[in-house]
Amino acid sequence: MKITLPLAFILFAVLMAAMPGSLGAPEGTCPETDVTTVYLPDDAHCEWFYICSNGNPVRQSCPPGMDWNRSISVCDYPGNANCPIHY
Ligand SMILES: *[C@@H]1O[C@H](CO)[C@@H](O)[C@H](O)[C@H]1NC(C)=O
Repeated sequence: MKITLPLAFILFAVLMAAMPGSLGAPEGTCPETDVTTVYLPDDAHCEWFYICSNGNPVRQSCPPGMDWNRSISVCDYPGNANCPIHY
């Protein structure tokens, strides 16, 4: 059977969607109202994090080469950030 390129792409997209977390999602949930600035780490990308805005996580990315340090909520050097995600 010959698999055409668009079909292969759709198959790939379906596979990606089927694996939870593979595309990245915030870990945890935002509080409904902003009392203080709340940050959430991403479950699939070391360099991504989320800032809560009125209950919605807004994705941000650390500068290239920096990873999110989830204990102090800043972008940090990968050696410090000690990202728990293993690809
Ligand atoms: C986060 O940053 C703090 C302060 O620099 C550091 O002590 C810590 O090891 C870093 N990483 C984690 C995972 O806490």
